[in-house]
Amino acid sequence: MQTDLRNRFLEGMSRAATFVAVATTDGEAGRFGVTISSLTSVSADGDHPSLLACVHHLSPAATAILKNRAFCANLLGQNQQALSDLFAGRAKPDAPSRFEAVEWFAGPGGQPILAGATANFECKLATALLWETHYIIVGQVTAAWLSDEPAALLYGQRAYRKAVHLTED
Ligand SMILES: Cc1cc2nc3c(=O)[nH]c(=O)nc-3n(C[C@H](O)[C@H](O)[C@H](O)COP(=O)(O)O)c2cc1C
Repeated sequence: MQTDLRNRFLEGMSRAATFVAVATTDGEAGRFGVTISSLTSVSADGDHPSLLACVHHLSPAATAILKNRAFCANLLGQNQQALSDLFAGRAKPDAPSRFEAVEWFAGPGGQPILAGATANFECKLATALLWETHYIIVGQVTAAWLSDEPAALLYGQRAYRKAVHLTED
């Protein structure tokens, strides 16, 4: 692929501010979690609501989600930058491991529900497709938690951000 096109793609997509989530999973393949900006709502009106996430095929979390056939999409709150960095592998080398450093509990489906998230969606794996470098993972939501604090952490132009209300002039 042309380097210039790749760079323009990356720069263009960096301008699309997204919310930040951590996809967690637990089961026979072990407990893993990874920070993602690729969480997308698919449908509220199927058998179950559904969502998708794109996770790099070399991420241990992707392999574990496929084997455990379940995961939780934890939509981070505005003050959870440190947690996002932790699950993106950006913590200091001597920091405690990901699940020792955060508060969490197991949902009814056994998936790790991270405390402090603005919303948590526990999912059964519905399907997954390997496209180039990433698995597109579709989950059927089986349970959801909402915190009292609705402001989500955002990421855009390569930095954490928060949404501000536009005033009408
Ligand atoms: C804000 C943010 C968003 C990210 N979004 C994604 C994503 O959607 N999919 C993905 O595979 N990696 C994404 N990453 C990168 C992974 O979090 C990171 O590469 C990964 O955790 C490192 O691999 P490890 O889990 O093996 O340590 C994102 C990182 C950050 C900081």
